[in-house]
Amino acid sequence: MKNSNDYQQRYKESLDQADYFLKIAKEFEWNKFPSKTIAKDFSDLPITCFSDGELNITTNILDRHAKKTPNKIAITWEANSPEEKGRVYTYKELLDEVCKFSNVLKDQGVKKGDRVCFYMSMIPELLIGTLACARIGAVHSIVFGGFSAEALRGRIEDCKSKIIITNDEGPRGNKNIPLKEICDEACAKIKTVEKILVVQRTFNSELDYNKKHIILNDLLKSASDKFTAENMNAEDPLFILYTSGSTGKPKGLVHTIAGYMIWTSETFKHVFQMRDDEDIFWCSADIGWITGHSYMAYGPLLNGVSQIMFEGIPNSPTPARFWDIIDKYKVTHFYTAPTAIRALQACDDKYFKDASLKSLKVLGSVGEPINIEAWNWFYKNIGKERCPIVDTWWQTETGGIMISNLAGVTPQKACHATKPLFGVEPILVDSEGVEIKGNPAQGNLCIKRPWPGIARTVYGDHQRYEDTYFSTYKGLYFTGDGARRDEDGNYRITGRVDDVINVSGHRIGTAEVEDAINEHKDIVESAVVGFNHEIKGQGIFAYITPDKEISFSKEQLHKELNNLIVKTIGPIAKLDKIIVTSELPKTRSGKIMRRILRKLANGEKDNLGDISTLLNPECVTQLKDLI
Ligand code: WT7
Repeated sequence: MKNSNDYQQRYKESLDQADYFLKIAKEFEWNKFPSKTIAKDFSDLPITCFSDGELNITTNILDRHAKKTPNKIAITWEANSPEEKGRVYTYKELLDEVCKFSNVLKDQGVKKGDRVCFYMSMIPELLIGTLACARIGAVHSIVFGGFSAEALRGRIEDCKSKIIITNDEGPRGNKNIPLKEICDEACAKIKTVEKILVVQRTFNSELDYNKKHIILNDLLKSASDKFTAENMNAEDPLFILYTSGSTGKPKGLVHTIAGYMIWTSETFKHVFQMRDDEDIFWCSADIGWITGHSYMAYGPLLNGVSQIMFEGIPNSPTPARFWDIIDKYKVTHFYTAPTAIRALQACDDKYFKDASLKSLKVLGSVGEPINIEAWNWFYKNIGKERCPIVDTWWQTETGGIMISNLAGVTPQKACHATKPLFGVEPILVDSEGVEIKGNPAQGNLCIKRPWPGIARTVYGDHQRYEDTYFSTYKGLYFTGDGARRDEDGNYRITGRVDDVINVSGHRIGTAEVEDAINEHKDIVESAVVGFNHEIKGQGIFAYITPDKEISFSKEQLHKELNNLIVKTIGPIAKLDKIIVTSELPKTRSGKIMRRILRKLANGEKDNLGDISTLLNPECVTQLKDLI
């Protein structure tokens, strides 16, 4: 594929040809080739794809490439400290390590269909263990290492995982995250947890180990490097990943094997266009998020490319770290998040000016709408105006990229995700669900037909899945995002239209934060909204109604609430700003008017619209004065 015409033609085929995805499926290794493909509409839930096919995804990731290109580097791991020697795995070595890990897991009792929870930092064993689960047919559930013990406990309980895998400590910048300790705290109250498997990373000798702990390092060394991949049905679950929505506790989205495989593999190939054998891919996301699942663990490896895995953070030891890594390994394709770009943009220019960055060919952005300043800075100073930026819009639920330009093939437009991937049919609807046709247009973003990578259900609660995604607009998957379409049909995602805040590219449900706040003994009620934040994209703004005249200062209360939030969710959900108020604006039926609170938090106090229908309009005046 060379240009927009090729894209147009293929896009049309992808929607018109009933066997489009079956033809692609032929490029993969199956134990039984499927006869069925994806449905044309959402009338039949749960969605299935290749449902009579049989395979193992790791055969396609590992054995296939270990046969063809055994000595090609799959993973180069860069440690947190630039002084520490990294590790390198060829495709053959990665296959061997995954087989060893699979044997150890099997010895520890892990079977096909079991859920295995990972609470680890970015060390190779996280990736290897994940693939080992897939090889056994066990379902992995990775919980990001920044979540608190309570958040971890909720996720372990929800998927009833008997085995938890962690590492002793996770080095990050100048800290060591006490992963095992947090894991122990989370598991203390869960009776179903039988074993905690620990990879020693820092070998801290002060940590306590008991009967439940099994240290993996030596077991992995001595295990056999042969393990026959389990035969799986295409629609068997591959993994569960928890994400926040506008209501209730986090949902465990379930992705199934073959559809997810094709989706991550195809989207990776088309969007990033890694054409040269020497090209090196680097996605800076943690595997604990969907970006790390799809564009580190699965997509690139399915394509047999070489990639970087990085344990540390962008600004340690200095804000030149990303640029140093790019130069050190001659990274050609670099995929990161607007929040990281903005954080590095705010640092002294000398950090990027000292770097060469000559190896770069393609840049990518994901996780939130990228602002024009960050886009320009990235394009000019990192890509030196010669690297296209792919702005990739997608979600945990979509499994892989849905709307994006294709590097060097279709035109980029700053801040626009641009055009749909093959097989994706986006539409804009108004509040009634009526499709808005023609260009330009603005509305709520929906997807009109199923695609192979869509999450199939919410673990343990299929009704919730249908209610969340398919009940707002009949027959359509509702994304929760608003979008615009320009004259040329390019999409620009404007952000969430529901009660979800996107903090540094991470999804935080307002309800979850409010629940945490309301645990404070002096708080009667709270409302949380997002506001524009220079680095994080959106910050968290909380309106707090205390029980009585509180005796401590606002600063003290802010601190106490953040402690509560760190305990129940994790540091990512800390409140940036709080306002203490005696009342919240409500409708006559008692619903909190978040629309008004959002506007106030964003400094739009002269643009609140009609407030006369409120139950307590005077409270808005009071809030205006407070802010
Ligand atoms: C939400 C999904 C996709 C992996 C990381 C986040 C926002 C994502 C973009 C983009 C504008 C974007 C949307 C979406 N989002 N990518 N390129 N432009 N917004 O996954 O946690 O499931 O969040 O992130 O609001 O709904 P997630």
